[in-house]
Amino acid sequence: MNQPIGVIDSGVGGLTVLHELKRQLPREKFIYLGDTKRCPYGSRTSEEVVTFTWELVDFLMGYDIKMLIVACNTATAVVLQQLKEQLDIPVIGVIEPGARAAIKSTNTNHIAIIGTENTILSRSYDVALKEINPELQTISVACPLFVPLIESGKYSKREAKEVVDKSLRAIKKDQLVDTLILGCTHYPILQSVIEEVVGESITVLSSALETGAEVSTVLTFSQMHNVMDQDPQAPEIYVTGDLQSVKPLIEEFFQFKSSIVKQVTLA
Ligand code: DGL
Repeated sequence: MNQPIGVIDSGVGGLTVLHELKRQLPREKFIYLGDTKRCPYGSRTSEEVVTFTWELVDFLMGYDIKMLIVACNTATAVVLQQLKEQLDIPVIGVIEPGARAAIKSTNTNHIAIIGTENTILSRSYDVALKEINPELQTISVACPLFVPLIESGKYSKREAKEVVDKSLRAIKKDQLVDTLILGCTHYPILQSVIEEVVGESITVLSSALETGAEVSTVLTFSQMHNVMDQDPQAPEIYVTGDLQSVKPLIEEFFQFKSSIVKQVTLA
């Protein structure tokens, strides 16, 4: 099947997932839509997250996508089930793959999760983890300061260290935690700072790797891989906000050419 795969996020953080999808599935074509104008979703009401997410989905359905990746933890926590029930294409979120990656990594069965307020309040990671292993112990911490820090370009060690250090104090105190899930698509951008703060005894994981593996498995299982013998194609990237503010992150961190990014208005 040669149609594109759609990827949505509340902003540019989901590009961490797109990056991994491109790496694992170089022959697939991806269309990414980030709602940078209305980001962050993490502290919005559930109704807003539902409405905005459907607007993103409706836009991508116009491109005849064969699969939808919800590369946003907040939207996965709030809307994934509804999307799965109402769309007739496969829909993959980032929470179950993230939970599976953490279960593979932990030896102590003590897992920490950090995310936006909405994701942490939804307890979606706890549910996904404990459905697989009810014996797991979890500690969840909302880090509402991280996304604004990243969106404003202050993601270098020097600028972010103090905020990260303060936000992760409870996790550092827990001697048994050996695995930390970055339960927000933006947080991998702060990964090296987070790793330095929590120390070597804690493995820091994002959902991106395992989400890529899940997408690959579903494509194989459903015989939906791109079968055209063609060279890898650059993804199309759309954002709803102005291009200037996302340009540095897109070019410096993700190393995507910002010339492939276009601004769109949702109907
Ligand atoms: N993409 C969101 C998430 O993964 C983070 C940014 C936001 O709050 O919208 O939860």
